[in-house]
Amino acid sequence: MQLTDAQIAQFRDDGFLILPSLFSPEEVAVLKAELPRLFAERRPENFREKQSDAVRTAMALHLRSAVYARLVRHPRLVEPAKQILGDALYVQQVKVNAKAAFSGDVWQWHYDFATHRGEDGVPEPLALNLHVLLDEVNEFNGPIVFIRGSHRRGAAPATLDTETTSYPLWVVDDETVAGLVADGGLVAAKGPPGTVLIFGDTLVHGSSINMTPWPRTIFSLILNPVANALTRHKRPDHQHHRDLSPVEPLDDDCLLAEAAE
Ligand code: SIN
Ligand code: MN
Repeated sequence: MQLTDAQIAQFRDDGFLILPSLFSPEEVAVLKAELPRLFAERRPENFREKQSDAVRTAMALHLRSAVYARLVRHPRLVEPAKQILGDALYVQQVKVNAKAAFSGDVWQWHYDFATHRGEDGVPEPLALNLHVLLDEVNEFNGPIVFIRGSHRRGAAPATLDTETTSYPLWVVDDETVAGLVADGGLVAAKGPPGTVLIFGDTLVHGSSINMTPWPRTIFSLILNPVANALTRHKRPDHQHHRDLSPVEPLDDDCLLAEAAE
C-alpha cells in the first residue's frame, strides 16, 4: 500500500496521519483473538497498571504470537513506513496498549524520541509509530491526542517520570505543552477498529484515563532505520529490540490467509 503525495505532505505538515478502517473487521478479529492469552501471561513484557491488575501495555508480541509476527511485516504498515523513511528499517518495539475499561490510566504528554534518545541513545528522531486501533476509539475511552505540528519545533525539553504511572516515561512540562497547543491545537485520534495512525518521533501526544465501560486496545509498531539504531543497551530487549534485521513486507492477505490454514 502506498501513501498518496497529499498524505505524505499532510504527514510532514501535521506530524501524523489518521487512516480510517485500513484493516477489516475480520482482520481485527484475528488480532484481538490473541489478546486474552497474551494478557493473561505473567512476564516482564506485560506491564500492569499502578492501581489495578489490568494490563497497561503488553510488549514483544511478535515474539509471543505468530499472528503478531505477521502484523509487524504487514504491507499496510511497512510500505508506508518505507515510503517515508527509506528501505532498511528494523522492528524497534511491538506492543498493545490496553487502557482497560474503567481502569485504563493516563499516558502523560510526551514524544517518543525523548525516551529513545534518553534511554537507548538513538541518534536522530526518525522512528515512526504505526498504530492499529483494535477497538472503536471515541471521545470518551481515552483516545490518543496529538498536538498538531508539535514535531516542527524539534525535541522539546523532557524529564523522566517514574511516579505517575507504572510505565517510566520521558514527559514534557506543562508550559511547553501550553505553547505547543496554542500554536497547533489538539486532534483526538478517533476511529473505528482497523483505523491506522502514523506519527513521528517528536510529535507530542498523550491520552487521558478510560472511565468508560469500553476497552480501548491499540496495537503499536515502532520502525526505525537500521542506520539510526540504538547505541545503548540499558533497557531490556522487549523495550527496544536488538535484532536489526531489515523488515520485509508479506502479502496483503497475510492475516486472513494464515488464519484460514
Ligand atoms: C496510548 O496508548 O494512549 C499512548 C500511546 C503512545 O504513547 O504511543
Ligand atoms: Mn508515545
